[in-house]
Amino acid sequence: MTPTLDLFGGDDPAQHGRVALGPQSVVLRGYALPAVEALLAGVDAVTAQAPFRQMVTPGGYTMSVALTNCGELGWTTDARGYRYSRIDPQTGQPWPAMPDAFRQLAQDAAREAGFPGFSPDACLVNRYEPGSRLSLHQDRNERDYGAPIVSVSLGMPALFLFGGDERGDRAARVPLFHGDVVVWGGVDRLRFHGVMPLKDLPHPRLGSRRINFTLRKAG
Ligand code: SIN
Ligand code: FE2
Repeated sequence: MTPTLDLFGGDDPAQHGRVALGPQSVVLRGYALPAVEALLAGVDAVTAQAPFRQMVTPGGYTMSVALTNCGELGWTTDARGYRYSRIDPQTGQPWPAMPDAFRQLAQDAAREAGFPGFSPDACLVNRYEPGSRLSLHQDRNERDYGAPIVSVSLGMPALFLFGGDERGDRAARVPLFHGDVVVWGGVDRLRFHGVMPLKDLPHPRLGSRRINFTLRKAG
């Protein structure tokens, strides 16, 4: 599916800043901008307790993206596989609480995208530096595919890849900017997605970093 890169959505004011990626997936341009300072304070609070770290995939590859989590459940990977865990394997402590600003934004964005009543219990926080990338994958470690994924982008821009239900399906390249929120769920819940290697285009607030966090209902 080709995304509609019409940022102004024709004449309908309700469509301003929306880019449809599929029947139940949308980019909400700049949706997080009013909350940026609260979100960044949340990232600082989370990473003070659970620092960013580079994890190793089951295939033995060290991810170029550094990650941490907040909420009841956190996504982890190691030689034994991918899974959600209540405990941060690095600190032995529960993951930090999900900041209210994260939860509120996710609920609002999900509703805006047609998924009312979203109640995330897991938030994966990713930190990209120039050259970091995320290869095409599906988010399928969650128990409940009925809930959407809400993905918030801050800092440097990235080219998001949004493919189909099969790994080999052609992927659209969707630029994501500071403050953009992507929501995918329903028939689009298992679409393959990823991130192209980041260029060094320093952001005025975050420098040579991109922070992305994805909120999920994992348990
Ligand atoms: C993810 O798939 O977990 C992250 C996507 C992104 O960084 O935009
Ligand atoms: Fe993902």
